[in-house]
Amino acid sequence: MSGAWKILISDPLHPEAVAWLQRQPGASVVVRSEISPEDLLQTIADYDALIVRSRTKVTAGVIAAGRRLKVIGRAGTGLDNIDLEAAQRARITVLNAPGANANAVAELTLGLMIALARDLPQAMQAAKAGTKIKGYGSELMGKTLGVIGYGRIGRRVAHVALALDMRVLAYDILKPEPLEPGVELVSLAELCSRSDWVSLHIPLTPETRHFVSARLLEQFKVGAFLINTARAEIVDEEAVLEALQQGRLRGYATDVISENSALLGHPRVLVLPHIGASTEEAQRRAGMEIVERVWQALLDHQDL
Ligand code: 3PG
Repeated sequence: MSGAWKILISDPLHPEAVAWLQRQPGASVVVRSEISPEDLLQTIADYDALIVRSRTKVTAGVIAAGRRLKVIGRAGTGLDNIDLEAAQRARITVLNAPGANANAVAELTLGLMIALARDLPQAMQAAKAGTKIKGYGSELMGKTLGVIGYGRIGRRVAHVALALDMRVLAYDILKPEPLEPGVELVSLAELCSRSDWVSLHIPLTPETRHFVSARLLEQFKVGAFLINTARAEIVDEEAVLEALQQGRLRGYATDVISENSALLGHPRVLVLPHIGASTEEAQRRAGMEIVERVWQALLDHQDL
């Protein structure tokens, strides 16, 4: 029998995961999935564990206020909303569920590619207005996709793209093992100069902020498409806008965009409201994985 652990869930978590945690003997679970930053700061001192997605910003202030906090669980992949250094200093264990949403994000990436290649938003609008769109779209088959960041999501994107008969190049700062048969590992410069499509699958860190800069975009093939299902800050949005205006980029599709971005007004920009991981399957997987891991970490803590 465990002690009484107080756990705060501050973002939308799959109901099965919440129910599982509530069933654990000694677990006291509070769900406040729309908690404000101010309320979080005021109440975090009561909790042993905090479970978040990307909405909650776990700042150094939250960590300092969380005097009882032992574990932070992230039901998903990216840890950029958690101050990892502050957590480490406070000896708080930070856990995530890497891979749980890889397929959901990969499928959305391919969906965005098809939507850009075939002008789906404009075509849908035209159909509703009873008109047609001019010109032709393009196919993915035979084109080259450059995957930047060959982790779980990048790998899955490569796998699906190969099934569509695309050529796939990959770039990663780590040596990815194993490499999917058919994927060619290349330098960043080679990936940029050879790819018709470039898709971003790197985490946001201080080093990757504005990774896609004006300088990098200059190395892209003229008329390439760029897809971002990672984080808005990975691209320099002004540089992307300029590349679109110059025709160096033929289109930009993203699941992540900064507030009031100038890109929002551009006709060759397709935007989604960060729905990459929002599938029933991915949320159940990520939710279950994180509640089990957080609970185990609390039990381990008790044994210390
Ligand atoms: C992630 O990092 O796991 C994805 O960006 C999804 O984030 P979300 O769980 O907040 O939707």
